Amino acid sequence: MTEAWERLRPVESLVKLPLYSAVGVTSGRLVYSSNVEGVRDLWSLDLSTGSSVRLTRGGVSAVAAVRPNSPLVVYAKDVGAGRELHQVFCVDARGGEERAIEGMEPRRVFGVEFDGEIVAASAASERSVELWVMRLGGEAERVYETKSIIVVSDVGSGKVVGHGVLRGNPRAFELFVFDLESLELEVFTPREGSLNRAPRLWGSKLLFATTAFGRERLVVYDLETKELAEPELRYRDHEGYDFTEYVAYGWTADGRVWFVGKRDGRTRAFVDGREVPLPEGCVTNLVPVGSRVYATHSSLASPHSVYEVDLESGERRVLLGAELPPEAAERIGEAYMVWYESADGLKVPAFVVESRAAPRPGPTVVYVHGGPWADVADSWNVMIASLAALGYHVVAPNFRGSTGYGEEFRRMIIGDPGGGDLADVVGAAEWARASGLADRVAIMGYSYGGYMTLLALTKRPDAWSAGCAGAGIADWEETYELSDALYKSFIEVLFAGRSELFRERSPITYVEGLKAPVCIVHPQNDTRTPLRPVLHLVERLLELGKTFELHVIPDAGHAIVKVEDALKVLFPMVLFLDRYLRSGGGGRG
Ligand code: 4NP
Repeated sequence: MTEAWERLRPVESLVKLPLYSAVGVTSGRLVYSSNVEGVRDLWSLDLSTGSSVRLTRGGVSAVAAVRPNSPLVVYAKDVGAGRELHQVFCVDARGGEERAIEGMEPRRVFGVEFDGEIVAASAASERSVELWVMRLGGEAERVYETKSIIVVSDVGSGKVVGHGVLRGNPRAFELFVFDLESLELEVFTPREGSLNRAPRLWGSKLLFATTAFGRERLVVYDLETKELAEPELRYRDHEGYDFTEYVAYGWTADGRVWFVGKRDGRTRAFVDGREVPLPEGCVTNLVPVGSRVYATHSSLASPHSVYEVDLESGERRVLLGAELPPEAAERIGEAYMVWYESADGLKVPAFVVESRAAPRPGPTVVYVHGGPWADVADSWNVMIASLAALGYHVVAPNFRGSTGYGEEFRRMIIGDPGGGDLADVVGAAEWARASGLADRVAIMGYSYGGYMTLLALTKRPDAWSAGCAGAGIADWEETYELSDALYKSFIEVLFAGRSELFRERSPITYVEGLKAPVCIVHPQNDTRTPLRPVLHLVERLLELGKTFELHVIPDAGHAIVKVEDALKVLFPMVLFLDRYLRSGGGGRG
């Protein structure tokens, strides 16, 4: 068995690569998050001396934008051993004690914002989705309650703003403006049925992304004049790129608009319409400060770096970042995008990362992303990098429902999860064989990707030699019953209220059909994709004499924030793939 343990080393080195993400600048310090000490915490870097201090311990989840008018950083922290029972805290960016904001029982906080004085949060309990307002030094107050989804994206000028499913249409997002004086919530949409998201305030102006006028674009709505306009930009470098999605945007301190546009899984960043020179890949966040910009960047072949870019000279340097270990860099091939045809003729985009350590055709993994409203882009993904470093080609389909390819494509999953998207995932395996990349194929994914893995292995068993399902969904009925108000609402939107589909779209319904060996990994305290339905699936696997592994990660939740837990997810999967895919000991092939 020595060889097996040897195989874990490159995975360990990749999982332990520190990740960095810029949050904002205040008091001459760049606030950023990093897992460099084993868990994702907040740090700040003194921009004049270059030295860093650690601000938090034990991990953070949501982090509010940092404001130049306050040295405080506001964030949510899980106090429930992974159950996503959060409390809101603040800490001084220059260092000091973490302080809890009193008055809110721990609950799922999925949006937190701060204007320098007031904190606003969207949170969920078993019963309802809520809006909370907290004044520093004062008590937290629940100011609004609903059964639908509302996500806070900004607070300022006496208002809390955000988006949600506010008119009962699962295909739409409207904006909301909550007035902190009258305590009234107003709903706004430029066009009924359109998708509007993540408004950012500057005075009375709201900058947001909308599909009201066709493909997604950024617009500015003035809450006083009630006028809708295009953002005013001094430069026009962005013209002609035809972005399908705006992944990040906001205002500079002096009211200029910055944004990150995405097309075909790669982004470009602009401040006031002037492009920020960055390498190919994806920018996940941008922090403009005066004539400088701090950009968090990665690609499928390079882990996160925070670049400091001088907009005037175009000069850039890496402020924070980690190098890929040479043995991994040698093995991870170029990432490229392909479009293949699914069973019903739909063109589906996928990213392919070939392994330089695998023959062609060779063992291949179809990696299915979570969400489902997310995508695999040309940005760092430790699972994909580990697979390629170990000698597996990876095909990562952006199945129907994925974001980044337009609103029509995103909506195709609503009312049909586990339907057309499953055909697209099976299509990725067929493409991998037909193109000469794969001689045998496994499937792997986490969360919605874990669900797809379980469904694909049981309902379309002939496509796969093996499969690894992390934090999957085995039974929609039981998962729905165990969900809090936010996730109940989420499932209602995903199924467009068609709960009669729950049975037909659940892996447990097809468990008898399973052919390939399956490796199941699940966090014990997962409150998004709860463990119990998966244990019921495992009971059936046992009764039916199927080949499976089950690994429960103790004291961990859905969001893997500890490096140690990430290893506990990946190590069993890697050893399993070595046994059932690499050495060809599996079901098919
Ligand atoms: P994700 O998580 O894939 O990590 O974003 C979830 C996706 C879907 C559901 C729950 C969690 N769901 O219940 O539909």
